Amino acid sequence: MCGIVGYIGDKQAAPILLQGLAKLEYRGYDSAGITVREGEKPAEVVKTIGKLHNLIEKTDEGRALVGTCGIGHTRWATHGAPSKTNAHPHVSGNCTNSGSGAVESEVVGVHNGIIENYQELKAKMERHGYKFYSETDTEVLIKLVDYYFKKYKMGPIDALAKTIVRVRGSYALVVMFADYPDRIFVARKDSPMIIGVNDGESFIASDVPAILSHTRNVYYIGNLEMAEISAGNVDFYNLDGDRIEKEETHIEWDAKAAEKGGYEHFMMKEIHEQPQVVLDTLHKYIKEEGAAKTIDLSEVGLTDEDITKFSNVYIVACGSAWHVGMEAQYVLEELGDFQVRVELASEFRYRKNRLPADSLVIIISQSGETADSLAALRMAKDKGITTLAIVNVVGSSIAREADYCMYTLGGPEISVATTKAYSCQLVCMFMLALKFAVVRGCMEDYGNYLDELLSIPEKMNKVLEDKERIQWFASKYSNARDIFFIGRGIDYAICLEGSLKMKEISYIHSEAYAAGEMKHGTISLIEDGTLVIGTLTQSDLYEKTLSNMMECKSRGAYLMGITSYGKYDVEDSVNFPVYVPKVDEHFIGSLAIIPLQLLGYYLSVSRGLDVDKPRNLAKSVTVE
Ligand code: AGP
Repeated sequence: MCGIVGYIGDKQAAPILLQGLAKLEYRGYDSAGITVREGEKPAEVVKTIGKLHNLIEKTDEGRALVGTCGIGHTRWATHGAPSKTNAHPHVSGNCTNSGSGAVESEVVGVHNGIIENYQELKAKMERHGYKFYSETDTEVLIKLVDYYFKKYKMGPIDALAKTIVRVRGSYALVVMFADYPDRIFVARKDSPMIIGVNDGESFIASDVPAILSHTRNVYYIGNLEMAEISAGNVDFYNLDGDRIEKEETHIEWDAKAAEKGGYEHFMMKEIHEQPQVVLDTLHKYIKEEGAAKTIDLSEVGLTDEDITKFSNVYIVACGSAWHVGMEAQYVLEELGDFQVRVELASEFRYRKNRLPADSLVIIISQSGETADSLAALRMAKDKGITTLAIVNVVGSSIAREADYCMYTLGGPEISVATTKAYSCQLVCMFMLALKFAVVRGCMEDYGNYLDELLSIPEKMNKVLEDKERIQWFASKYSNARDIFFIGRGIDYAICLEGSLKMKEISYIHSEAYAAGEMKHGTISLIEDGTLVIGTLTQSDLYEKTLSNMMECKSRGAYLMGITSYGKYDVEDSVNFPVYVPKVDEHFIGSLAIIPLQLLGYYLSVSRGLDVDKPRNLAKSVTVE
């Protein structure tokens, strides 16, 4: 997820671009850049690593760049670590100076999204003599536009149309052409993009906040559509190059609400981003090979030969990332016939245990900076153990120091309570479990499993449709003192995450318990009206857990049960049933966690708490 701003009009562009980017830093902040041009002169490109203020300083708040047409970008790295060279804008010329300075190139532009087939396209461009200075998919995209522009000589819209047809993935692409000095061109698929037009000036942005101070009248460009933007005018085109008409929309949101996409809190926005970012993460590694699908770890660097060498796996993490490991262990064991141990990083780093030399240590971390997880990684490496990191922040310490790194494509996660990063980590572990199973000969055909994984995002949307029902239920428990989450196997792991969500944002005490363990002491805490939430997604454990729930009910508990469509007999036992769509039960945790995320969220809101910044917590725990 990145932030894009464009401007063309009668004012100096650079200050407007920088102000707009400042409103979009929540979309990405590891590097930034702008390009500005004045009439026929070549575009100037300036890029900096780190926060936006570095670019603001370098351009003297934009005053150092002259021109009334320009594009700006603040980056969240997906391909290529954060660096000045990888920062956008990117250019079509074979420049060596990281694409900065005066640009003698036909095409210069920025992109938000993921080009899934960028490696094959890069090889194609190299065969046509193009040279690359960055590690990004965006530079490939810009050069592809240049290639079609020069090859067919039918203008920018035609070049963009041919590019769209050729790429797979998501993009909001904003480019300028040297031969069209008073124009900006846009192409879009899946990534957000809006266009605002005022008297004599036009604005382009990834999101409303960037242009709200200039105009509330915007156009939404559709998928596989393009636009040609000049000062005060915009023309839209379809893939055939035909002009299309668009309705103008008036934005009602205030600036704060706009940053959260109209949601009240970042957490709710990020809960709703889960289907898209999980799909992005799945598409990053699940590739089509003819009619078959396969999991491609070439970007991770882990080969089949490497995988056959591992005899057992340690999964090491903290908090919600540890819950991912707790859930993944069952999947790895059942599908990959692997011996798996899941360890809290704060414990693992001090254990004196002997790690077998042929172990694999998997470190899971959203931030890639968690002190305990980083220390655990270093301890494993000191012992000569192979390490694999599953990380959301590109270029973070854990990502850089692990032997292998599998990135999630969760985008920036602002809310302290993780949701979308957790969900992306989970599907990465599911893909690893399938890959290991196939390589170790435990599974012939994993095509069906991959189809099941790819069905998750749509099914997540289905679960989200039920959110008002969860909101109603939450309103009955805003004064709860204790809430218990119980389950067995994968259901127990889901309870761990549900309980942490509840605790960390609603401040209501809660415990996750292996359902079969309740009778060994904890059931003494059950009183009249105590809320017990039972997770019942695993068919082979359903009856067992249900009877544990009934033991609680007979002692006064009020039961909420989460299970999959079809298990409607649960209504004979629980007071409040919640259903999620069917999916292979190894993966159903991706769906069952959503009602629990929502429950914690609505309880926190009903108690008037700061959902996104809970007391005593930080987004990344970089101290012991
Ligand atoms: C999750 O909601 C918490 N904010 C916290 O437990 C978090 O998962 C933990 O601190 C690990 O962070 P990491 O994934 O960045 O390593």
